[in-house]
Amino acid sequence: MVWSSELMPRQDGRIAFITGANSGLGFATAQALVEKGATVILGCRSLQKAQQARKKLLTKSENGHIEVLAIDLADLENVSLAIDYMVSKYQKLDLLINNAGVMAPPRTVSKQGFEIQLAVNHLSHMALTLMLLPLLSKQLGARVVTVSSGAQYMGKINWDDLQGAEQYDRWASYSQSKLANVMFALELNERLKSSNLAVASLSAHPGLARTNLQSNSVKSNGSWQEALAYKLMNPLFQSSSMGSLPQLLAAIDPSAQGGEQYGPQFNFRGYPKLCQIARSALNKQDRERLWNVSYSLIKDFVNINNSYVLSGHN
Ligand SMILES: NC(=O)c1ccc[n+]([C@@H]2O[C@H](COP(=O)([O-])OP(=O)(O)OC[C@H]3O[C@@H](n4cnc5c(N)ncnc54)[C@H](OP(=O)(O)O)[C@@H]3O)[C@@H](O)[C@H]2O)c1
Repeated sequence: MVWSSELMPRQDGRIAFITGANSGLGFATAQALVEKGATVILGCRSLQKAQQARKKLLTKSENGHIEVLAIDLADLENVSLAIDYMVSKYQKLDLLINNAGVMAPPRTVSKQGFEIQLAVNHLSHMALTLMLLPLLSKQLGARVVTVSSGAQYMGKINWDDLQGAEQYDRWASYSQSKLANVMFALELNERLKSSNLAVASLSAHPGLARTNLQSNSVKSNGSWQEALAYKLMNPLFQSSSMGSLPQLLAAIDPSAQGGEQYGPQFNFRGYPKLCQIARSALNKQDRERLWNVSYSLIKDFVNINNSYVLSGHN
């Protein structure tokens, strides 16, 4: 039997926070959760985008519980302020979906000077997740789902030039950030377990889904070859709601477990199923190294109080 949104259990009383919720997979995930009764906090780059997304969701679920949060993942100080506000406003959090992402732009940097794909896709999600753990751990059955990509399987961590400062390849940097997503998800799960925190961390990837990711990528890098490739590949792409199913399954299906990854049945498309994590993410030493390097980059900009999870030891 295939898993689809009809199989989703009711989510009344649960609170979900989704980054990048105004577009593509984030929006589809928000819609599905709102329809099942969850309170969904839309994390978007600006308040205006979040409010527009809220309005659109309300046309589909007029009694939906939808809240907004402006959060710019290209600025860790902004992330820190936004999450501090969230922690002061909400008593608990059931689901965190680390979904926002950028793909293959020319080399630019975040407000703190970090290469933009590493910053938005990985570092800011690590920072906000660690800041939200106190809220998540108040709720039995809370989950963190980090959205990766099939690019994880080609990803390589360039330890000598993590941010492409010496030589930048925008696709290698994207794949690296998406491998980092899975390494983070897995390492977080192990640290949560050894800290006895009842929060599970999983990853998911959508295959190929028709969203704004491709057009925004082409807009930023100006490559007509890539624009043409997306046009030719268009029939292979599935809808954003199909693409959102792996992350929804990982977030709410009772059978899904921490440390697992869900993706489409046929690699690029199809209904979701348990899928393999990139082999490069399975090396514990590499995961610890990435955790430590990432933490050293974010620690001066965010306030994280969770010593067990940080040290990885009880
Ligand atoms: N679509 C696919 O085929 C595919 C395949 C593999 C993996 N993925 C992954 O799926 C996730 C969702 O992407 P999508 O396909 O739904 O693309 P999308 O439609 O472009 O959505 C990406 C979201 O991320 C947000 N975002 C980008 N930079 C941000 C920043 N600095 N601060 C806050 N939010 C920011 C975007 O906000 P704006 O609207 O303001 O730009 C948007 O809401 C990404 O992690 C992507 O890597 C997608």
